Amino acid sequence: MISEQQKREVAEMYQGEVYGEAFYCALLHLFHTPVQKHLIGSLLQLETETKARLRQVVFEHGGDIVESDASRNDARAFIRRVEHMSWTEATTYMVAASVEFQDRYREIIESVPKALKPVINSMIQHEDLIIAAMKLASEGEDEKAIELVSGQLMLPLPDPPAHAAPLPTR
Ligand SMILES: [Fe+2]
Repeated sequence: MISEQQKREVAEMYQGEVYGEAFYCALLHLFHTPVQKHLIGSLLQLETETKARLRQVVFEHGGDIVESDASRNDARAFIRRVEHMSWTEATTYMVAASVEFQDRYREIIESVPKALKPVINSMIQHEDLIIAAMKLASEGEDEKAIELVSGQLMLPLPDPPAHAAPLPTR
């Protein structure tokens, strides 16, 4: 049995992924090269998969699994901060934003019962992955960032047509 506050904290992480999905969807409108789209799409996929895992936990503890429009609106408001940035500036900025999420999860893990620690730890690692991928992207290593994120996905995105090997001709 977890407390009402812990229930809210788990729901907060779930809504964080709703926020993340809306954020990467909005980001897809800003950056258009095949590699940028592949990385953003993979991060979107990561948020979706993480959200699905958290949905189980929220539901298990009797929390609300309705996805909040407020979370989506917050993400769209945040995107205005990066819309005039270059790819390098935006990815650097996103490292800092992910660190903030991670700091919050580190705070939450302190007070939760043992049974919840693994899922919250996995959220801290989730932010580690995003931070590492965004750092690589900010250093011009977009392909490595895609590889890193794709390696953690259950349903990785296939290479987009621009990168796919040409179809064999007969
Ligand atoms: Fe996330």
